Amino acid sequence: MKSIRILVISSANIDFVQHTHRIPYAGETIVEDELGYAYYPGGKGGNSAVAFARFGADTVFACKLGRDSNAKRLAAIYKKEGINTHHATVDAEAGTGMAAIMTEDNGMNRIIVYPGANRKITAGDVEEAFTCYPDAVFLQMEIPDEAVFAAASLAEKKKIPLFIDAAPARMDFPLERLGKVEIFSPNEIETKIYTGISPSTEEECLRAAIRLSSKVDARYIVLKLGSRGAFIYDGNEYFIIPAEKVRAIDTTGAGDVFTAVMTYVYLQNGNIVTAVKYASCAAALSVTKEGAYPSIPTREEVFEYIRSRRKVREDRGQEDFYNEEEEEQVEQW
Ligand code: ATP
Ligand code: RIB
Repeated sequence: MKSIRILVISSANIDFVQHTHRIPYAGETIVEDELGYAYYPGGKGGNSAVAFARFGADTVFACKLGRDSNAKRLAAIYKKEGINTHHATVDAEAGTGMAAIMTEDNGMNRIIVYPGANRKITAGDVEEAFTCYPDAVFLQMEIPDEAVFAAASLAEKKKIPLFIDAAPARMDFPLERLGKVEIFSPNEIETKIYTGISPSTEEECLRAAIRLSSKVDARYIVLKLGSRGAFIYDGNEYFIIPAEKVRAIDTTGAGDVFTAVMTYVYLQNGNIVTAVKYASCAAALSVTKEGAYPSIPTREEVFEYIRSRRKVREDRGQEDFYNEEEEEQVEQW
């Protein structure tokens, strides 16, 4: 069966990850020689592109790298993952994007991004990338607004479904300019920034989703709620998909994996609830390992996980959360 071609227009970073038992207070120095640090490939776009590729999508990644050794490392990794980098270009003046990430014992993270070359993606680069004839376009907000709006307007003009992982968020971002979107998906903090509503309860999730719907012309709003799961709103009804119960080691990149897998499964079968269930499993697997890139699961790992969960539920006499017939279809893609 022909694989779906996804054009990811987004950011590529190297992540400098440092672990700490607790975040230092302002002015405080902490010595953490026991937990160590690492450099991993990252960037919201890079993580999602790898998640798409590992799930079986024909992935084209349009990004901007610097002229440095980090760019070479990222390009080699994309190649290894089978990602098409024809539209991953280099800016000779800028450094490759870098993220400083602190992860705490509880699996939470704090991220500061130096965008570097990501800031240099232009509307012209975006137009060029559309020559790959994508079946769908996937965006995140870690690139210039100009590039986001160029991609959104080209997708609408060419009638290509557009998927937006709304991270990171800014209060003054003009959501109204995005045009037609298939799925718009922010996390909790992004939802708060875009709407002023903190999605802590079911009622607040609904209020926030309705407010987002009044700004974005999206078929579905999907709020990512961390260990609480995800909230789907279709303009009429809402559905809550609880998160899988796993031991979180590091949640970095969970949102990137979630939105990529949700997009791919939705494109395959058009069912938003199924798509979010698969996304939840993929994201849950990703939080059980350290780092963004090393924790991105393959399609086989996600299916294996679902099978093992089914066995547990069967043994307990509980109803199956995942439909076996549906799973067989998904496995054939
Ligand atoms: P990121 O850490 O990449 O910025 P995010 O903040 O964009 O992630 P989250 O809402 O934290 O996104 O997580 C996305 C999805 O991952 C959730 O909707 C949920 O399905 C899954 N997830 C996140 N944290 C956990 C957890 N502790 N246990 C199980 N699943 C989780
Ligand atoms: O979503 C996680 C990602 O955000 C990290 O990999 C980091 O590079 C930042 O872009």
